[in-house]
Amino acid sequence: MEKQELLYEGKAKKVYATQDPHLLIVSYKDDATAFNGLKKGTIQGKGAINNQMSNLLMARLEKEGIPTHLVEELNSRETLVKKVSIVPLEVIVRNIAAGSFSKRYGVEEGMVFDAPTLEFSYKNDSLGDPLLNDDHALALGLASREELTLIRTYALAVNRLLQETWRVCGITLVDFKVEFGRLEDGTIVLADEISPDTCRLWDASTQEKLDKDRFRRDLGGVEEAYIQVMERLTRGL
Ligand code: TMP
Repeated sequence: MEKQELLYEGKAKKVYATQDPHLLIVSYKDDATAFNGLKKGTIQGKGAINNQMSNLLMARLEKEGIPTHLVEELNSRETLVKKVSIVPLEVIVRNIAAGSFSKRYGVEEGMVFDAPTLEFSYKNDSLGDPLLNDDHALALGLASREELTLIRTYALAVNRLLQETWRVCGITLVDFKVEFGRLEDGTIVLADEISPDTCRLWDASTQEKLDKDRFRRDLGGVEEAYIQVMERLTRGL
């Protein structure tokens, strides 16, 4: 499958058309942004790592019954995916308080929840991706009630499966963000990516951060963390 015209360029990926109207090619970049694009940088090798890691994880989820957009990895940083229209919701699942949850509610990072908490943000950069609840999503027509229920069920199943995958690699899954899309017939599938850009991953024994927070917070060792997480995943799988 060959890349045709560039359809969309996001902060971390480019999306190309293909000869097949139902398939797209995603190309992962090394570019990194944070705080809604205010902070910009490059994480050498990130595109290839995120591409391959996301594909390994999505293939595993697919095997466990979660439908995904994944078709086939084409090369180190490019993947063939099913064309979807993205549901404009950032679906965030948290097992441990961190990031915006800790800031918003004034709790220390590291507080372990009794059960996972799920939240939605409205995927809208010009509004700064505001937090929203099911009723808001319905009022804005972002998804139907049935779709919200399915998305919630899938997101919690993804959490259980990813927690287990990372646990055997000695990594704690603190939280993550996923996005879902609709195929032409309306089927909801997991889309976008699952990578250290979109998950908080802490070393299970030292709590060392092994994800994009190293870039967001200027902690150093960013490239090394991405490489380490990828190595641990391929050893654990
Ligand atoms: P938050 O604590 O900043 O809301 O982030 C929750 C999770 O979502 C964390 O694993 C990082 C991920 N995330 C994204 O993938 N994209 C984003 O734009 C933001 C803000 C967070």
